[in-house]
Amino acid sequence: MATPSLLIPLFSLFLLIYPFSFAQQPPNPKAFVFPVRKDDGATNQYYTTVTIGSNATTFSAVIDLGGKMMYFNSLDYFNAASTYRPILCGTRQCRIANGVGCIFCFLSPPVPGCTNNTCSDYALNPFTGTQGYAGLGQDTLHVYSTRGDRYRVDGFPFQFSDPVLREGLAAPTAGLIGLGRTKIALQAQLASAFKIREKIALCMPSSGSVGSMIIGETDYAMPFRAIASSLYTTPLVKNPVSTDMNEVIGNLTVEYFIGVKSIKVGNRALNLNKTLLSINRETGAGGTGIRTVRAYTRLHRSIYDALIREFVNSATAKNIRRVASVAPFGACFDSSSIGSSATGLNVPEIDFVLQNDVYWRFYGANSMVRVSDGVMCLAFVDGTPNLTGPTTSIVVGGYQMENHLLEFDVASSKLRFSSSLLLRGTSCSQFRAA
Ligand SMILES: *[C@@H]1O[C@H](CO)[C@@H](O)[C@H](O)[C@H]1NC(C)=O
Ligand SMILES: *[C@@H]1O[C@H](CO)[C@@H](O)[C@H](O)[C@H]1NC(C)=O
Ligand SMILES: *[C@@H]1O[C@H](CO)[C@@H](O)[C@H](O)[C@H]1NC(C)=O
Ligand SMILES: *[C@@H]1O[C@H](CO)[C@@H](O)[C@H](O)[C@H]1NC(C)=O
Ligand SMILES: *[C@@H]1O[C@H](CO)[C@@H](O)[C@H](O)[C@H]1NC(C)=O
Repeated sequence: MATPSLLIPLFSLFLLIYPFSFAQQPPNPKAFVFPVRKDDGATNQYYTTVTIGSNATTFSAVIDLGGKMMYFNSLDYFNAASTYRPILCGTRQCRIANGVGCIFCFLSPPVPGCTNNTCSDYALNPFTGTQGYAGLGQDTLHVYSTRGDRYRVDGFPFQFSDPVLREGLAAPTAGLIGLGRTKIALQAQLASAFKIREKIALCMPSSGSVGSMIIGETDYAMPFRAIASSLYTTPLVKNPVSTDMNEVIGNLTVEYFIGVKSIKVGNRALNLNKTLLSINRETGAGGTGIRTVRAYTRLHRSIYDALIREFVNSATAKNIRRVASVAPFGACFDSSSIGSSATGLNVPEIDFVLQNDVYWRFYGANSMVRVSDGVMCLAFVDGTPNLTGPTTSIVVGGYQMENHLLEFDVASSKLRFSSSLLLRGTSCSQFRAA
């Protein structure tokens, strides 16, 4: 038990340090806010805005819930990179980054990505599957609290990447920001720098509007305050084996998984191979991941086939006319044969039944996508992988998350989520802190 005589010196030490380490920062932020935009059409990726360095270089970065760190390549930053510092091998920052190896790169003067005795790691481009190996660096990240104050995060770690890591990224973006289960992910760094809760509230917009991501803990403005008081809760599951094929650093689980127990269409359960729904603790295969970098939910082929069959039967019973499929979708319909409602087209509801009998219900706005005039398709895709390595059976994608409030409480390993915000007459473009 701590004695009072020990507590007093610690407290005065705190007072001494405080004015220096928090100089010019407004006090006590509880949460930080980031805009979330969608790259319509070409990539359907979701991205935010990042500001870094002494010259406040600003760029857009794809949001990757399962990404382990931030990487980017921006000539604006390169020119102004005076406060860039490498993370040296053997340092505390290097241990936090949990990287692989140490690189020795000599250029005079040193440039981002080529510095001597530098802690290194792989970064993954989730669209091409390409890995980029490079030294890690750090610089000051500028962030805004939900009250509108600007804060600095000194020594924010990232990889100034090889341009190959930008291939396939949405045109407006220069990199990617990771929100995975690592100590160098954005939410983990903000939580440790400001002693706030490691929690991400994600409200992904539909095409043409701007949503928000709030990191930390805060009250929301109405109607979100009421919505947040009645969220469904399900555990965030850990996969003991990395699903990232080239990940070699042991049992690091970067992605978030949830426990889907069954899938229903219009209240009829699909007949599924249950083995696929749970994570194989030895191979890491199976289970349900949740990724912002997948445009549409991907399903193992046997699950996909069962979904298509039941959805088509159920839609036909509602006199909805099927038309020729348009790749990559396996079931498309004549939109003039479908009615509509507040939650989008009036089609059979799809439920993901989670642990404790909690339902994640997808209405038309999240289950149907327009591919051309008069043609709407079921917005799920066959995810049977053509890659080697452990394979996740279901990956919940961005389209299914749109206009839902999703709270990834990393601190307690729980996902809390609302039903479609359209049922409450609102959307992610209205999501604000109080
Ligand atoms: C910031 O940018 C200005 C104008 O582009 C440039 O002249 C200056 O050297 C940069 N400062 C740093 C610290 O890189
Ligand atoms: C690079 O770093 C290593 C390890 O600290 C050191 O021994 C070596 O002299 C450095 N080389 C240069 C060119 O700075
Ligand atoms: C991964 O986990 C397994 C089972 O817990 C353990 O036997 C193995 O040593 C771990 N591997 C690493 C690299 O930590
Ligand atoms: C169910 O899936 C598992 C994992 O892929 C597979 O090994 C097994 O053969 C499947 N069972 C049936 C009946 O298809
Ligand atoms: C997977 O297969 C699709 C369709 O055949 C192809 O377009 C794609 O490039 C493949 N992806 C990989 C990573 O091999």
